[in-house]
Amino acid sequence: MAKRVALAQLREDNRCLVESALAASGEAYAPYSGFAVGAAVRTKSGRVYVGANVENAAYAVVICAEVSAVAAANAAGDFEIEAVAVAGHKFYPFRDTSQVVTPCGRCRQVIFEASEVSGTDVQIFSCNGKLSHITESKISELLPRAFGPRTLGLAKRWPKMRRVLRATVARLQAGTRISRKRKR
Ligand code: THU
Repeated sequence: MAKRVALAQLREDNRCLVESALAASGEAYAPYSGFAVGAAVRTKSGRVYVGANVENAAYAVVICAEVSAVAAANAAGDFEIEAVAVAGHKFYPFRDTSQVVTPCGRCRQVIFEASEVSGTDVQIFSCNGKLSHITESKISELLPRAFGPRTLGLAKRWPKMRRVLRATVARLQAGTRISRKRKR
């Protein structure tokens, strides 16, 4: 069940996650909305990856903070996500730090995919800019009856495919090294 929680009462790692999300909002590229969002993802390894929204002159092309943070975790080869914090605030042309930012529908779908990969009902901390209002929930609550890799019967496929992918890239890299040597 979604519940309201106080920053001071959060477990240290969760407080750190929420604070990292707020800090990341400072790196938003948001010239169109004037609304900055930061997100922080924690994986089972305990590492934290952050992201911020990246807007575009073609408005529909915006990249949300949560997607950016999830992509950062994946790019680091650390996709076992267990918790996500998101914090946002209007900073221009006026300031409003009171609104709680919950992940948008697309972000929920992206987080749900990661949750089926990690086998964890990902914990979500949705925060306002002041961190005075924080709601804690699970991705299964934010996106009930979701469509995911399990629906396609593919939940167990990725670990094996990833091993194949990594071996393929290692072989490609080795090949590149050989051709470089030959050129000399
Ligand atoms: N935004 C996010 O980064 N995450 C969300 O979950 C909701 C919306 C961003 C997109 C856009 O740059 C700005 O907030 C206003 O919609």
